[in-house]
Amino acid sequence: MEGSMDMREKVEQCYRQLRQSVDFQSQDFRPEAALILGSGLGALADEIETEAVVPYRELEGFPVSTVAGHKGRFVFGRIGGLPVVIMQGRVHYYEGYSMSDVVLPVRVMRRMGAEILFLTNAAGGVSEKLAPGDLMLLTDQISTFVPSPLIGKNVEEWGTRFPSMDTVYDEGLREIIRETAREHRIRLQEGIYLQTTGPNYESPAEVRMFATLGADAVGMSTTVEAIAAVHMGMRVCGISCITNMAGGASGKPLSHEEVSEIADRTAPLFKKLVVSSLEKMAGQGTDNR
Ligand code: HPA
Repeated sequence: MEGSMDMREKVEQCYRQLRQSVDFQSQDFRPEAALILGSGLGALADEIETEAVVPYRELEGFPVSTVAGHKGRFVFGRIGGLPVVIMQGRVHYYEGYSMSDVVLPVRVMRRMGAEILFLTNAAGGVSEKLAPGDLMLLTDQISTFVPSPLIGKNVEEWGTRFPSMDTVYDEGLREIIRETAREHRIRLQEGIYLQTTGPNYESPAEVRMFATLGADAVGMSTTVEAIAAVHMGMRVCGISCITNMAGGASGKPLSHEEVSEIADRTAPLFKKLVVSSLEKMAGQGTDNR
């Protein structure tokens, strides 16, 4: 079993290596927000004012994604006036990492100074109210089907042993995203995201079960990252791009290609919503909690 010192030491080790590329101590460079880009959204990071880029593989001890289409690097830059650290590609539990490794990047970004975590993903629609191409603001989550990222010895310095999940997705940030969607006339759905381990998609019976449980969308990431962030006192928000109906309601078997195609097609709208929302989040860190 991984002891708490290991995880803490791993975070410190990654942080020390990153500091060789980026000076987090300087006022200018301290990221206020962290953004994790899901499938199809990676290009967003190529279009911002970039200060530094660090591929994950250059960081000893850092989990590296093996999924095609996931770039695997940190991009440091500015969106509007907001200093951000962006993860262009994330790691998933199904790649074989422990859940504490899956959330290690979130812990490292917190260590850099980020107070806000903005999560994005591609997801399958469970609710009949959703259709492929929809954007869904996360209002709550179901993480019960995957191990908690907090299992193991607690690092008191990060957070409490038994953190409350009464509000995972910060109400203030949600309101900013809603307002941004209204301003740009972007249709924004809202709902509950359920995480599975993946990598297989769901059977129709599983999708019916998830619907019964109150889930609106299903995917293979996000809820554990949100838990780790809440554990460390970050303000969290998230948006899903609904790429397909879960279980493949389209009549043909669901494929990663179909998911990627719809994610790519929705990317411009998704990008607009994420970037414009982040611009409004400057100065909205944990001090306002
Ligand atoms: N299920 C799980 N994860 C997903 C899906 C899905 O239908 N679509 C995109 N990510």
